[in-house]
Amino acid sequence: MKDIADHLFDIFENSVNAGASEVIVRIANTENHFFCSITDNGTGISGPEVLDPFVTSRKTRRVGLGLPLLKKAAEDTGGYLKIKKREEMRGTTLQFEMDTSHIDAKPFGDLAQTFADIFFAWPEMVFKLYISTRGSEELVLDFQRLRQEAEEGLVDLLKLRKHIYEVAREELKKIDIG
Ligand SMILES: Nc1ncnc2c1ncn2[C@@H]1O[C@H](COP(=O)(O)OP(=O)(O)OP(=O)(O)O)[C@@H](O)[C@H]1O
Ligand SMILES: [Mg+2]
Repeated sequence: MKDIADHLFDIFENSVNAGASEVIVRIANTENHFFCSITDNGTGISGPEVLDPFVTSRKTRRVGLGLPLLKKAAEDTGGYLKIKKREEMRGTTLQFEMDTSHIDAKPFGDLAQTFADIFFAWPEMVFKLYISTRGSEELVLDFQRLRQEAEEGLVDLLKLRKHIYEVAREELKKIDIG
């Protein structure tokens, strides 16, 4: 996985594989600190052992590398990856932080494209992206709302994917990503 965008896609796939119907992503990027949290309502991660590459629910391969690689990518910059099982309801919260100015930091890659691709691959998913700046949080992408708008205007999936890409790009630029 060459960039953060690849990692985000992998985390999202994990949520889908865990039966999640809802994924909430929160990101912040200030003074070279990239923060990201992903919450889903899937089956829940059992515990920290998922950070071991030999723990996987994959059927095709005996090792799962997504999370161990993300952990390493974060820690290489002095950051961290934390996994929490949600107590109050079903699901998982994953949080990571990276120092993007660190010499070993992976590039962001095209995050906007990743969000657009996620929509295209799983259009029925309840997905929300929040961006926080200076303590306040703004909802910048909401697939459900976009779908509703589309149903009224009969916009097709390809057009929506492009729209999501453009909205995400604009919003990410405001926090110096992309
Ligand atoms: N959001 C999640 N909810 C429930 N279980 C999860 C979640 N994310 C990961 N897991 C569990 O942790 C294991 C390891 O995940 P990881 O992404 O490291 O590897 P993988 O998805 O199995 O394989 P790869 O990412 O290499 O394709 C998964 O197989 C799954 O059992
Ligand atoms: Mg994975």
